Amino acid sequence: MASRLAGSLALFFLLASIAVLIAVAVVQVHKRTYESAGQRFGIVLDAGSSRTTLYLYQWPAEKENNTGVVSQNLSCLVEGPGISSLGQDSIQDQKTWSSLKNCVAKAREAIPPSLHSNTTISLGATAGMRLLRSQNETASDEILQSLENYLKGLPFSFRNASIISGEEEGLYGWITANYLKGNFLERNLWNLWVRPHGGETIGSMDLGGASTQIAFNTPLDEGVGAEGFIRVWLYGYGYNVYTHSFLCYGKNEAHKRVLAALVLAKKSPSKTVENPCFPVGYRTNMSAADIFGSPCTEQRPVYAPHEQFLLVGTGDPAGCRAVVHTIFDLQSCHGLANCSFNGVYQPALSGHFLAYAGFYHTANALKLNRSFTLDLFNSTTFAFCSKNWTTLTANYEIKEKYLMAHCFSANYVYTLLVEGYKFTAETWNNILFEKTVDKSDIAWSLGYMLTLSNMIPAEPKLLRLPMDNSVFAGLLFMFSSLAILSLMFLIISLVRVCY
Ligand SMILES: *[C@@H]1O[C@H](CO)[C@@H](O)[C@H](O)[C@H]1NC(C)=O
Ligand SMILES: *[C@@H]1O[C@H](CO)[C@@H](O)[C@H](O)[C@H]1NC(C)=O
Repeated sequence: MASRLAGSLALFFLLASIAVLIAVAVVQVHKRTYESAGQRFGIVLDAGSSRTTLYLYQWPAEKENNTGVVSQNLSCLVEGPGISSLGQDSIQDQKTWSSLKNCVAKAREAIPPSLHSNTTISLGATAGMRLLRSQNETASDEILQSLENYLKGLPFSFRNASIISGEEEGLYGWITANYLKGNFLERNLWNLWVRPHGGETIGSMDLGGASTQIAFNTPLDEGVGAEGFIRVWLYGYGYNVYTHSFLCYGKNEAHKRVLAALVLAKKSPSKTVENPCFPVGYRTNMSAADIFGSPCTEQRPVYAPHEQFLLVGTGDPAGCRAVVHTIFDLQSCHGLANCSFNGVYQPALSGHFLAYAGFYHTANALKLNRSFTLDLFNSTTFAFCSKNWTTLTANYEIKEKYLMAHCFSANYVYTLLVEGYKFTAETWNNILFEKTVDKSDIAWSLGYMLTLSNMIPAEPKLLRLPMDNSVFAGLLFMFSSLAILSLMFLIISLVRVCY
């Protein structure tokens, strides 16, 4: 009688355990398929000074607030100049618009139609539009309005179209760099134990066409309330990010300033200007408007806009470095600790730095890879600047307008990093020149989207539901053991009944 009761009990436990096992597995598998089906997309238009780029980002919906789950699905370069040039030439405008529409169509094709209305779209304009706004606010407002009207007419969920500030641009770049590098930890019970102050972060240096940004994390008590510091809370950890954006110190505007300095310094009344940053054998005509027509190079009434100059390369690296030097105001930092240039406060550099966009392109043009010494950078620059135009065109398959500017760029990068930001031969080794991380471009646009969409919560949940894999495995183990034990018990009691 007793063994019969024990047998029924064992049978009951066996069936119950199997039922629970099936239930747990079904829930988990269901969750899994739901997750893999649930992708989300977001589009950001990075409207730079010299060009616009469309980025399409993608991530699993259920994990959208987790660290490092967003990746770049595609990027599309809009042909033509930056949006700040819209409204100046109707033929060029048409080309720009049709290329923009092509990029949007590409993104549209990459997103399943059912998710279009769930996909956010934003446009952020940077230094080119900051400069235009300073010259003519009506014109910049009109451009943004026409773009906003266009974006609102698309089947996506429109978020924003605006000019972002230089400090925001720097901060978003820093967020992107650290997000892609996987440096943001989530403050959970385990991380609080091993990393009470969060993980190590990397500094960010961006070089665009019209502005350049530096941003890095500093100790929490540094520069409290001072200009240039932004406090952010990400996944439960606090960061104190120093950031500064130098307007007119992007690669193209800095180049114009160097050309302007050369033209203004020429002594003879002739229209020929020797340029030590251009290679020997290279000569080109430029109008006064090309050089002085930007807010970054004060318009000198001495030159009529159509006046032409003949620039003749002398391929002199030391001379190039000397003229690049003149566009930096190092005097106003003289004697001050913690100062970069133009009298701007900058705390002591620390940790590693990611140098992307124009920094990467300059290193890449010199055929230098990722990380190299300052000595090597200098010797490569000098060798490059000393090559004549015939040798350069034979050895580099780069468009003329880029190739002729690389000697300038290399000297500019040196002067900005070493004389400006104060990198030394030693700290230079902490700089990584990179363009992408795991096929996602390092660009402020990703940090901008993450921030606009609240995808980086200030405070994470310490405990997360539904269950993660370790909990699932634990339950599986517990109920499987119970089932096996019940089965053994059942067999034993059946054996007893039979004999
Ligand atoms: C992510 O965080 C935001 C803001 O805290 C919240 O509204 C949203 O529901 C979260 N999404 C997921 C999938 O947890
Ligand atoms: C500013 O832009 C508007 C619109 O494009 C134009 O009509 C106006 O003439 C411009 N003003 C100046 C001072 O250039």
